[in-house]
This record gives sequence, C-alpha cells and structure tokens, in this order.
Amino acid sequence: MEKRRIGVLTGGGDCAGLNSAIKWVVKTALDDRLQKERKIQYEVVGIRDGWKGLVLPEGDVEDRAPRIITLTEEMVRTWDRHGGTNLGTSRTNPYDPKNDRSRIVLGNIERYQIDCLVAIGGEDTLGVAQKLYLDGVKVAGIPKTIDKDLSGTDYTLGFETAVTVITEEIDRLRTTAGSHRRIFVVETMGRHAGWLALEGGESSGAYIILIPEYDFKIEKVSELVAEGRRKGARYEIIVVAEGAKAAGYTEVVKKDGIDSFGHKSLGGIGEFLARWISQLTGIETRSITLSHLQRGGLPCAYDRRMGRYFGIAAVDLIGKEDFGKMVSYRNGEITFVPLREAIGKLNVVDVRTEYDTERYNGRRSILGL
Ligand code: F6P
Repeated sequence: MEKRRIGVLTGGGDCAGLNSAIKWVVKTALDDRLQKERKIQYEVVGIRDGWKGLVLPEGDVEDRAPRIITLTEEMVRTWDRHGGTNLGTSRTNPYDPKNDRSRIVLGNIERYQIDCLVAIGGEDTLGVAQKLYLDGVKVAGIPKTIDKDLSGTDYTLGFETAVTVITEEIDRLRTTAGSHRRIFVVETMGRHAGWLALEGGESSGAYIILIPEYDFKIEKVSELVAEGRRKGARYEIIVVAEGAKAAGYTEVVKKDGIDSFGHKSLGGIGEFLARWISQLTGIETRSITLSHLQRGGLPCAYDRRMGRYFGIAAVDLIGKEDFGKMVSYRNGEITFVPLREAIGKLNVVDVRTEYDTERYNGRRSILGL
C-alpha cells in the first residue's frame, strides 16, 4: 500500500477546540477501514509550535524537544476534551518581509518527508498556508479563531467556548455590580470584528455593546447609562470589543509597535471608557478585561463537535487530493472553500443588519418590521 505522511500544526492564538480537530485528523487518517478503501496508508506527525516548528532547527536552545512527533490514535484518544493546543502554537510568520524564512520551511517539509500539511489557524496562519500552497506544498486548512473573522465560513473553532466564558463571567459580575450599584465595562477580544462582543453581549444580556465596526460616541454611552438609571436599573453591564473606538479617537493599544503579521497589540478601551462614564455621569464605574480567559479552559460541546467535523473533512480533502482549500461550515453544512477566499477579506459584523446604532446593542428586529 502507498504510504503518505500528513503533518498537522496549530498557529496563532490558541483557543478551545484545537485538540479535537487534531484528534480527528489523526483518527480519520489512521482509520483501518478508510485506509483500505483509499489504498493509502497515512502516518500523522504533529509539528510543534506552529510555523516556528518548521523554521527553528532541531534541538534549538529555546526548547530541546523534537520539532515533530508521531501521533497515534492512543495518544490523541482524550484530546477532544483538552483546552489550548497540545502541539503548542506561535505567532511566527515565515514570509515576514523583514525576515523571510519560507525557504527554511520548504526545506524542512522535505526533510521531514511531509507529503501534505493540515494547518489549523486564523487569517495569519492560513495566509502562510496559502503562500506555501502557491510554493507547491499540498495544504488543507481548518478555521479557528475566537474572533470568528475569517471569510468563507460561518464558524471558526474556539468562538462558542469564548462566548460561553464571556457569558459566565458577566453572570458573576452582575451580582457584585448590583450589590454596589456600579457600572461594569467588560472588554472582550476582537481586533477588527465585533462578533465576540456582540454575541457574548447578547448571550449575557448586556445593556450596551460596542464593536469595532461602529465608532461610538462617549456622550451617547453616558446618556444611555443615565437613562438606564432613571428607569430603575441598579447596575449596567457594558461590553466593549478591544478594537472598538470612540468617534474621533484611535484604538487603545497596550504597547506600541506591530507583530510580524502587522497587528497592533490592543487593550485598554474598557478602562478608557469606564473613566469617561464616571466623569460624565458621576456613577461609580469599573472595568474588567477578560483577555486570555476567553481562549482558556475546556472546550464547550459545540467546539468539540466542530473540531471533530473539521478534522474529518480536512482528511477527506487530502484523500481527494483537493489541496489549497479550507474546510468550512456554511448554511448548516460542512463544506470547503479555496484558502484564498477565506483569507481575502475579514468577516466583520454587518452594522446595517446586525447592530442597533441607536441603542448600541444587538438588532431588535430579525424578520423585518
Ligand atoms: O487571535 C486573535 C486574538 O484573539 C485577538 O482578538 C487578540 O487581539 C489577540 O488574539 C491577542 O493575542 P495574544 O495576546 O495571545 O498575542
């Protein structure tokens, strides 16, 4: 029987659901019955720490562990229940124009005898996968990002777990906010897309939701808060995405500079807004940044299931020799799209149909008036 080696890696920010996808790539590729039908015997190797695993030399000082490991069914048996990524991840860009290491990656793919690659990632990781595809590598992509901002798919792994974290943390904040009659501003992740803030805010019943797609007016937020108080609210919860901006201001950054994919490190809009609200309304306002809690912890049932379906579908693509594609979830079905379509433009909230610019909240009409 013909033998082939599949390499699998996770890149970019970690999230829940990655290990489930890895497990199902392994189980589907190694499945006895399927191997006979395909007449191909697969072996699966995990590449450690994303693209970094393919640029760093073996036994690098940072980490003496092997860069690739053979994955067996027994090893991955329980992985769908694990959070984060058991392969490790990094934000390494081998095509960084200031430090192009793509030749090293291509050389290592050959050296490790990897016939095809499954890249599990967001726009950055899958952007690299597309470039490698154009350079002749056989790749399949699996979408993941808690930001849910990839095009070509209605779902990206990690999103639903992150929304659950936001909902649970806000449930906790409500009791303390109410006891003290305070306003709480909750900052979520979401650089360019407001899905996490919007759907997290909707799930938790937030009073105000602020997203990167619509610049908010500080005075209007304060008026809404004051109105809530007049109507008898003891406390209010405001959810703000890290990439949201007040009209006339730029995004709030944690530190200056950009990473190798050109991203700013955002953070601080929650505290910025909390100060303004206290100043304008005189009501005690606190802020909390949920930060990496949203990416941590055990995957919810949905992410375990979607990881499974995406992992299986990625191996189906490999079996069909249909490369340069990303598996996707579209209109209730698992399907696939060209990688270039998934990374071409970001999937952001359509303010016209999904957002109420008067209430600064989710839509109040779904079927139309
Ligand atoms: O992967 C996207 C994301 O969740 C963004 O919303 C956020 O800005 C970023 O990750 C933060 O990642 P890190 O601090 O781990 O680099």
